[in-house]
This record gives sequence, C-alpha cells and structure tokens, in this order.
Amino acid sequence: MTQTIWLTTNIKSFDSLNESLETDVTIVGGGITGILSAYLLSKNGIRVVLLERGRLLHGTTGHTTAKVTAQHGLIYNELLEHFGLENTQKYYKSQVEAIQFIKEITEQYQIACQFDQQDAILYTNSDQNYKKLEDEAKAYQQLNISADLVKEIPFEIPHKVALSMYQQAQFHPTEFLKVIIDKIVENGGKIYENTTAVDIDYQNKVTLRTARDHNVLSDNIIVATQFPFYEGQAFYSTRMYPSRSYVLSLTSNQEYPGGMYLDVDQPKRSIRYVKHKNETVWLLGGESHKTGQYQKENTNPYRDLQSFGSQYLDVKDWYYQWSTQDYITLDKIPYIGSLNKRHPNVYVATGFRKWGMTNSVVAAHLLTDLIMNRDNPYKDLYQPQRFHADPDVKKFISFNSNVTKEFVTGKLGLNNEPDQLDPETAIKKKHNGQIIGIYKDEHNQVHSVDTTCTHLGCECNWNQAEKSWDCPCHGSRFSYDGTIIEGPATKHLKKIDLEN
Ligand code: FES
Repeated sequence: MTQTIWLTTNIKSFDSLNESLETDVTIVGGGITGILSAYLLSKNGIRVVLLERGRLLHGTTGHTTAKVTAQHGLIYNELLEHFGLENTQKYYKSQVEAIQFIKEITEQYQIACQFDQQDAILYTNSDQNYKKLEDEAKAYQQLNISADLVKEIPFEIPHKVALSMYQQAQFHPTEFLKVIIDKIVENGGKIYENTTAVDIDYQNKVTLRTARDHNVLSDNIIVATQFPFYEGQAFYSTRMYPSRSYVLSLTSNQEYPGGMYLDVDQPKRSIRYVKHKNETVWLLGGESHKTGQYQKENTNPYRDLQSFGSQYLDVKDWYYQWSTQDYITLDKIPYIGSLNKRHPNVYVATGFRKWGMTNSVVAAHLLTDLIMNRDNPYKDLYQPQRFHADPDVKKFISFNSNVTKEFVTGKLGLNNEPDQLDPETAIKKKHNGQIIGIYKDEHNQVHSVDTTCTHLGCECNWNQAEKSWDCPCHGSRFSYDGTIIEGPATKHLKKIDLEN
C-alpha cells in the first residue's frame, strides 16, 4: 500500500488563508523545520503565521525514516579534510544538541512518540569502503565521538565491517510534531493549510503573496519549503540537487535486534524499526537516485527493495511503502540563514541531505536566533552564501553541467507511439511540435500533459514507481494528470487535448 506509516497519525487540520494579514514572522512550509521555527519563535512572544501549501507534515517530514542521529553517512572524515577540525566539531556538536532538544521536549511535554536511544551503524561489504569506514572511525576519534569499528552486524546481510555511533535515537515524527503544533496555537501562532505562497515583494518589510491574492506583511520570512519557492537571485537552482529515496515497511519472523543501520555501498540500504499497532514494523529504505534521472528503463525501486528484504530479512508480511525527496548541497552542509545580502530578512533552510530530523532542529534554533538578533555559534558554518573553493568549485561545475544537460537534452525528441501503451504506463512523444507525456490509467483513460516543468522550463521525466512526472533540474513533481505534487514549481503542468 503506498502510504507512509507516519501519516496514520491524526493531525489537526486548519483553514486556508482568506484575508490579508500582518505579523512579525511569516513561515512558509508546514514540515518539521517550519513547525519547530514557529514553536520557538511563538514561545519567545513573536507573532508567527505559518502557511502550508497542502496539509501539515504531508511533505518530506511525513515520508522520512525519522532517524535522530549525528551519524550522517560517511561525512566526518570528509568535513575534516575540507573544513578543518573547528568547523567539523561545530557540525557534530550542533547535531548532538539537536538530538538532546528532541529528547528534552519529549520529556517536558511527555510526548508518546517512541523516542528511543539506539546506536547508529554504518556498514560495508566492499574493500574500498572498508578503508573509508576505517578513516571515518579515525575521524570519530579525533572528534571524541563515542563509537566502535566492529566486524559483525546482527543480520545475514553480507558485510565486512561496521562502524557504530553510540546513543543516537529514533522517534515517531508526526506523534512528536502534532503536540508541537498544539503548542504553537497555544502560543498564539496562526496556521493556514492549503495556502500556496507564490511571490515575495521585498522592501523594508516583506510582503508575501499567495495564489489567492492575499498578502501577508511581516518583518521577517522563513522559507522552509525544501527548495526555496523564492530564490531572489541567490541561485539555489545551481547549488543543490534533488534526490529521491524509497521506504518499504514489513514485519519479520525475526526479532528486531536493535540499532539503526545504513549501508555505505551502492545501492544503499537503511534499516530501523517502529512500533505500529502493537507490531514491530521494520523500515527498509534505499534506492536513492537524482530526481527525474533513472539508471535503467523500467526502474522499480520498490521491487528492488522488496527483493533485498525477501533475501535477507525473513519477511512475514509487507506493509506500507512510500518515497521522499531531499536536497543535497554542493559541500553537503545545509544552507541555513539569510537568502542573500539583498534579502537579509528572508531566511532559508534547505539541503538537509536526508538528515532532516536533526538539521531541522539546528535550523529552527539558528533562524530564531538570527531573527531575535542573538548570537549563534553555527551561523557561519551554515551560512547559505558561503563559497568554499574546495571542493565546491569542481562540484559546482560538474553539477551545473548536469542540470544544463537536462535542460537541453531533455527537450530532444522521443518517438514513441501511444497505441500500444499498457495500462498504468506512460510515454513521451512529439505532438504538434512539442514534447508531451501520455499516461494510460488502469481504466484505459489517457491523460496528456505538456512535460515542460512550470518552474524554469526543464523537461520532466516519468517516474513509474510513483506514477509522476519528475523534473530533474530542481525536483518539482507532478502527478500523471499534471497536478503539482511538490515544488519549487507553483503551477500544474498544462493539460494537452490530443484531438487538437
Ligand atoms: Fe526547476 Fe523544474 S524544478 S525547472
């Protein structure tokens, strides 16, 4: 069943905005970053208005694996090489503080969100990555991280070595955040759902315009929409890329041995558990790829994950499945802070590299401090306008050419014919000189759209697993009939009438 386990939680709903307003801080994006920012600001007596395009928590936050850890894959050795000891220590410390914050809030409000301390474990079966795990272990030593390199993990999955980081955590994100949403309302914060922000007018104050032509005037605005819906010439389009990943949930005949696991080989596999309706449900994630780019035809990430699970996890039953999207910056550190010098009161938080549970906490605290003119030790580390020559420049060039290639070659023709199209599949073809996408649904009804992305005009590609048109440039996604699923685009794909 394509549904996330986290959205089985009953989350309060809110009306859409139907008037213009004035406030202190406008927050766009009802995921964990926007909600925690609204909570911290409102707790400090600041008036906040939180706007969400769809339903709260139905974006990346509702589709995460919800590991609350400072072990972000292989990262610390690389950060030490490129950013030095002091910055790497800051990165680690900020993540540890984020875990502590979630723990403290859980205890303070007695939230039944399964917050549970678990070790985080990286493992590999390759000789090349064996060396990388050893180097990562040395980096942990340098940073005084409590960890161990071990030969065994408690699964029959092929592996040669593993690196455990002790006392990390996991939780149920929507059970946690539904309480935080209540706290925002108690603090006087205003929340509106089904309200799309489309533009910003920046003078001394910031005026945000919604799709229904209402304005929200405020001193500061936080754009917590993953890819910023407003770029203000800050060129985020060229400084990060979108990546999708997939999760299957299952019950197993084995008892879950504890721990949160991540393979550092390709394709990556992530494993943790959650209690759901009195059962221990295992979450098996992986099959990441750049959004809109597929290694092979008929790629089916769910099928590939299922075959891995069947082989190694003694599956009793398959349960929910879901996918998610995140953005990865050029140097792997999130962008958190002012959009750019021209827009000091417009703040962004993005590029969490799939580690959003802790990075969102870092972002909420940092943005709250910036708005309240308080010092924050991590301001420079996460500052979005940083340009570190090494390794940024090389990656900038190669990434940029990748996006440019998508823009150019994505437009080149595909000469398929729709006649032989099987139900629940799609093709692209030329129609009246333009490339269109045609999907045939399970009732043999055909849905045709112009596959030109409504953000900046790249060519969307078909995602068979999700039945969506995905843009490889900045990650906008549209359903088979062109309805927008996620931005930065704010408009649907144009429908095409094949009779004309
Ligand atoms: Fe930017 Fe499609 S998301 S062009």
